Amino acid sequence: MPHHPGRYPTTRLRRTRQHDWLRRMVADTALAPADLIWPLFVHEHEASHPVASMPGVERLSIDGIVKAAAEAATLGIPAIALFPVLDARHKTDDGRLALDADNLLCRAVRAVRKETADAVGIICDVALDPYTTHGHDGLLRDGRILNDETVDVLRRQAVVLAEAGCHVVAPSDMMDGRVGAIRAALDAAGRHDVCILSYAAKYASAFYGPFRDALGSHAALATAAALGVADKKTYQMDPANGDEALREVALDLAEGADMVMVKPAGTALDVIWRVKQAFGVPTLAYQVSGEYAMIQAAAANGWLDGRKAAVESVLVMKRAGADCILTYFAPEIARTIRS
Ligand code: PBG
Repeated sequence: MPHHPGRYPTTRLRRTRQHDWLRRMVADTALAPADLIWPLFVHEHEASHPVASMPGVERLSIDGIVKAAAEAATLGIPAIALFPVLDARHKTDDGRLALDADNLLCRAVRAVRKETADAVGIICDVALDPYTTHGHDGLLRDGRILNDETVDVLRRQAVVLAEAGCHVVAPSDMMDGRVGAIRAALDAAGRHDVCILSYAAKYASAFYGPFRDALGSHAALATAAALGVADKKTYQMDPANGDEALREVALDLAEGADMVMVKPAGTALDVIWRVKQAFGVPTLAYQVSGEYAMIQAAAANGWLDGRKAAVESVLVMKRAGADCILTYFAPEIARTIRS
């Protein structure tokens, strides 16, 4: 309820909407490049390769990632989130390549750190889906995703990433207890400096489709269907639930998360708001691949103004309480804001 609702005709809310300068003066939310994180896909090849369902997004070589990181720094984007795309022949049932200190992601992290030092933050997912033949985030046995066995692998994966030089590890797997295990493992390895951004409220969402295309884990999840675990609903949250998101966030904070994330953002603006109000901690939101694809598809058809829709969709995530938004539109929005 507004504190001073006023009364027509003395009060006319259109009065402050008359001019651009006036609208800017009374705006209560502003978007800055520092509010954006740029997710990037790195693959094992020299030539970049477009993601068909994400027009404008490409899988890049390590050199390409280094250039993108430099561009992020120039644009004032504080951090990049790196996702590895492996050739199918490097995937295994147990995703063991995740623990290899020389894997693609670790090499990319080292290359970015070498070129940009600490000018740009590097965020890495902790989860097994890029590495598993079945595309699940955890270990799969007898038609079930194992929790504690997976956590044991994830905490080692987090240390491997920290040693490669990543600043923030971001468990995106939704196993129970993984944040505490990762914090303990990082501390035991002397890496008190590495932050944990937990994908705390991550919903089992249809909007991750294009991301799975990008990783090639869509086909993998079809393999999983044959093994009896077709989707991620036994670990990611049911979009029907709001209160459960607050319990997830509370647990992750208790276990040592420095920042929490709500994902997807556009279908959970209420959850972003509730998390920020309830906990007052750094709250991030992920505008996921499907949200990006929808806007790009409509824009390509001339059905809406893509740039305006992109800026508006991210601005309202900030208004809902997000401190920072992961979005594939990050460089475009940063350029728009700066011009
Ligand atoms: C996997 C992961 C996913 C995303 C980020 N990390 C997909 C999934 O959970 O299946 C989705 C990001 C996007 O759709 O843009 N741990």
